[in-house]
Amino acid sequence: MWKGRFAQDTSSLVEQFGESISYDWRLFPHDVAGSIAHARAQLKAGLLTQEEFSQIESGLREIEKDIKGGKFEFRTSLEDIHMNIEAELTKRIGAVGGKLHTARSRNDQVATDTRLYCRTQIDEINAAISTLQKVLVNQSGKYAASVMPGYTHLQRGQPVTVGHHLLAYVEMLQRDKGRLNDCRRRLNVCPLGSGALAGSTINLDRAGMAEELGFDGITHNSMDAIADRDYIAELLFIISMCGVHLSRLSEDLILWCSSEFGFVSLSDAHTTGSSLMPQKKNPDVCEITRGKTGRLVGNLMNLLVAMKGLPITYNRDLQEDKPPLFDSVDTILMVLAVNTEMIAAMEMREDKCLAAASDPMLLATDLADALVKSGVPFRSAHELVGKAVAESVKSGVPLDELDLKQIDPAYTDEMKSVFSLETALAARTNIGAPSVVNVKREVERWRSCL
Ligand code: ARG
Repeated sequence: MWKGRFAQDTSSLVEQFGESISYDWRLFPHDVAGSIAHARAQLKAGLLTQEEFSQIESGLREIEKDIKGGKFEFRTSLEDIHMNIEAELTKRIGAVGGKLHTARSRNDQVATDTRLYCRTQIDEINAAISTLQKVLVNQSGKYAASVMPGYTHLQRGQPVTVGHHLLAYVEMLQRDKGRLNDCRRRLNVCPLGSGALAGSTINLDRAGMAEELGFDGITHNSMDAIADRDYIAELLFIISMCGVHLSRLSEDLILWCSSEFGFVSLSDAHTTGSSLMPQKKNPDVCEITRGKTGRLVGNLMNLLVAMKGLPITYNRDLQEDKPPLFDSVDTILMVLAVNTEMIAAMEMREDKCLAAASDPMLLATDLADALVKSGVPFRSAHELVGKAVAESVKSGVPLDELDLKQIDPAYTDEMKSVFSLETALAARTNIGAPSVVNVKREVERWRSCL
């Protein structure tokens, strides 16, 4: 592509070192779409005849078909997807293929292709997240009234329901989708026409190319358009955040399926055994999800570090944007799919959840609230309940069986009615709190908005 200036062939080691075709081949549908839009703008500008345009368009469509069908031979010597397609086009349709690159550079080409790729993948990830949310909402509906302990510091805190716990993850995933939509909106502008960095003396209809490719607008500074990889960093962050959410869910499930908790039973299809210990049933899907999240975060770091010292505009370092991008997209799609399947099949062990929530200590705060309702300031109520708790720990008498009035006259007999999980949950009616009524309403709300 640059034989004019060079007297020597590229070293084969440099060829191997610099190629990106081994991974950027998958940009081909976007590269073809971008080239057709570019050729149509050339036709409108009078740079191509209708006949030439038609040859280019059908040549590119044929190449696309061959690549899809696995009948295309990529060549490392042609470095990347852009040059592989262009060289093949010229081979197939002759010299007219050489007109395609007028007023274009691989720099604006790769920037366009990558935006189109990210846009497509954002839509796919968004849909996969919605599918997982639906499964979580179904399970939340099924276990809307199943009481379990809620934890802080991994110590039992207060009673919640399984439905409320699972819906927390639906909220997180909804934020991930919000971030994806936001990223999509920001990246959906077309860099075509920015050339290598400084536009071109040949003015093509940029708005027309953008419209044909489904962009909402065009970029307004050719140098920024070529140098910009912000949208990839954003997407890698969003994917990392989504991975972190699923990793936290994994950690909950790993704890829950231990014998110590015993809250959940994962299906045989989504667990593995041990080659040595016959009794084992391991939550590998959760562990691998947790493990792969490290990779997602690593990919984000990889790109940020590659970008931080680069002068604008294009530097070849930027070719290193694609391996982390492709890896993160593939990884999160796989993680979402497998977790969706596993969560749809899991069964909560409601008896175990209830037993763990049945320690009256979990209602110590409710007892303090009862004192507050009778006029005791909260700080004093906290201290009075603290005394009762200490007495219970010392004497071994459960908190709900102590003679509270003996501890302090502020206690009344009716206050013992707080020691009912049903009452405790039913009282938590404020928006966002885990009463069964609220959880059921939330399940309905999610069903209608998903
Ligand atoms: N394969 C290159 C990349 O992915 C395409 C752009 C090449 N541009 C250049 N000036 N060498 O970044």
